Amino acid sequence: MFNVVLIEPEIPPNTGNVGRLCLATRSTLHLVQPLGFDVDDRQLQRAGLDYWKEVDVRHWTSFAELQAGQASDARFFFLTTKTSRPYYEERYQEGDFLVFGRETKGLPEPLLHANADRLLTIPMRGTRSLNLATAVAIVLFEAARQIAKRS
Ligand SMILES: C[S@@+](CC[C@H](N)C(=O)[O-])C[C@H]1O[C@@H](n2cnc3c(N)ncnc32)[C@H](O)[C@@H]1O
Repeated sequence: MFNVVLIEPEIPPNTGNVGRLCLATRSTLHLVQPLGFDVDDRQLQRAGLDYWKEVDVRHWTSFAELQAGQASDARFFFLTTKTSRPYYEERYQEGDFLVFGRETKGLPEPLLHANADRLLTIPMRGTRSLNLATAVAIVLFEAARQIAKRS
């Protein structure tokens, strides 16, 4: 239904959990290298439980390569704490790409600057950021909710 992009994820259980979220929403998981773990990592497999092998996972050597491999009208949204525009104000479409940053550093500054009109945030307070898999769940299921409501 959607495309979830993790840029250089570092923590295996996060990626395993995101894989389950993708499976649950019939979405594709795109992993942009370098990864902070091996895809055979036991912690990743454990977080993904028996479902990991069913997840539609695609690997890319860079975000530029991923983007170049998509249709010219593909829509990309970048999730970050560095904007004030709430994720629920976007009207999502099937096939949208939801892009998330790495656990320790977030999305690279050049990517944020190049896509300044495509930044979305999950409003929050009291912490610098949410866990990666939690952030994916919030936005992915809002996008799925919108599609379900329209059909
Ligand atoms: C653990 S966070 C990264 C924290 C990093 N220290 C930073 O300052 O961006 C990992 C990723 O989850 C997503 N994320 C976490 N909290 C978010 C929020 N409140 N709004 C939007 N995205 C969020 C972003 O894509 C972020 O790059």
